[in-house]
Amino acid sequence: MIKKGIIIAAGSGSRLAPLSNSLSKHLFPVYDKPMIYYSLSILLLAKIKNISLVTRNQDINLYKSIFGNGEKFGFKLHYVIQDEPKGIADALKKNIDFINYDPVCVVLGDNVIYGNNLASQLISLTKKTKKSHIFGYYVKNPKNYGIVNFDKNYNIISLEEKPKKPKSNWAVPGIYFYDKTLIKKLKKIKPSKRQELEITDVNKLYLKENKLDLTLLGRGYAWLDMGTYDSIQEANNFISAIEKRQGLKIGCIEEICFNNGWISKANMNYFINKYKNTNYGEYLNSIINR
Ligand code: G1P
Repeated sequence: MIKKGIIIAAGSGSRLAPLSNSLSKHLFPVYDKPMIYYSLSILLLAKIKNISLVTRNQDINLYKSIFGNGEKFGFKLHYVIQDEPKGIADALKKNIDFINYDPVCVVLGDNVIYGNNLASQLISLTKKTKKSHIFGYYVKNPKNYGIVNFDKNYNIISLEEKPKKPKSNWAVPGIYFYDKTLIKKLKKIKPSKRQELEITDVNKLYLKENKLDLTLLGRGYAWLDMGTYDSIQEANNFISAIEKRQGLKIGCIEEICFNNGWISKANMNYFINKYKNTNYGEYLNSIINR
């Protein structure tokens, strides 16, 4: 059973300067919440309570001011620092003590995934720890992502990081379920041409051992990543459209924790009070009175 999660919110967000000069990209507003709420909510939907947040030293107090040690939300949050942008797998290497040879779920702090039955799919993957697991999502611009090529039985044939000539249009979203051999693989990989430790190289080691499974997220899912102004704007539009239409929020971490039974009604009142006179506070109030 996967009980540990890592959320990666380091990196300089250089493509977003000057906005990112003084603020961590993962705290940028995406409609009505900071960007990181959406990826954190993926771990919470999977009912993962023990979480490590990787961030830059200069940003750590901002995250602490939002989440503290997670206690108010009913999860446990550790902080790990990655100051140099040396890649996702390097951020994972900084978590060797946290991982401690247990299986883990990793999410990138700039990803949004939305779709029917997502939570139950995530929960069922936390129970399959014999192999590691990645997702595939059909995109128009495969050159920008890790790409997975597979046969008609969905067996993975190859993985490539940002290929010039992609073998498929199936991108690998920033959510990965790893078995307990992750540390061994992290120690094996070498920096890529762009001098980063690539998550795709870790996944390739699993593939070589025939220990990597694939689930395709079909057309009913939305997967968005937010690395540019335009992609943030698109995520904004998507989330605002759904939230306004349904009156239900995407990535509302207090709601998920309440539904998980981690926040009591009394503790929900703390948040309702904190956000009083806001739409967010009203929403939280409506949840406890449902
Ligand atoms: C990273 C990974 C890539 C993955 C993507 C998902 O790329 O290296 O394999 O498809 O995240 O968001 P980045 O956007 O950090 O360059």
